[in-house]
Amino acid sequence: MKTAIVYATSHGTAEKVANIIASKLGNATLINLKKSGHIDLTQYQQVIIGGSIHAGGIQRKVREFCQRNMVQLLQMRVGLFICAMNEPEFDNELKMSFPELLRNHAISKKVVGGEFIIEKMNFIEKFLVKKISGVSQTISKIDEKPCAIILV
Ligand SMILES: Cc1cc2nc3c(=O)[nH]c(=O)nc-3n(C[C@H](O)[C@H](O)[C@H](O)COP(=O)(O)O)c2cc1C
Repeated sequence: MKTAIVYATSHGTAEKVANIIASKLGNATLINLKKSGHIDLTQYQQVIIGGSIHAGGIQRKVREFCQRNMVQLLQMRVGLFICAMNEPEFDNELKMSFPELLRNHAISKKVVGGEFIIEKMNFIEKFLVKKISGVSQTISKIDEKPCAIILV
């Protein structure tokens, strides 16, 4: 079965996760929403859609992709993931990231953790992350377990 892994990333972590998922699945095509134009989903039977949470929301490109392709997505096997670091909000963030129709249709919905990569943050991001999470050094908390079972 051919799988597309469609994702958006701000600092590279969702891309890292997309690669981890691809390596577990085997035959998968990676599609970065910020670098691709029209995506033809007809050649795939499965699609995994993911992004990361910044200031409470997922990337606009992910939301637009879901809306634009909803009819087709509802006829495919779908897995959803988000990268996020604010654990008490995980369920809510997952809920806010994807339309209800798609969440109900999806085979799995996973929060895969994330990273704070200080070198990739601008001044304001560093300030916010330090203020809200108390983090001022790079940390990685990617959970590989849900990556392995996303479409099983
Ligand atoms: C400026 C900033 C804001 C963030 N806001 C949230 C947030 O509201 N909730 C959350 O769970 N994680 C938040 N995070 C953590 C990100 O989801 C995490 O860093 C993720 O790994 C980023 O993935 P990316 O590199 O693919 O964009 C934030 C991170 C940054 C840098």
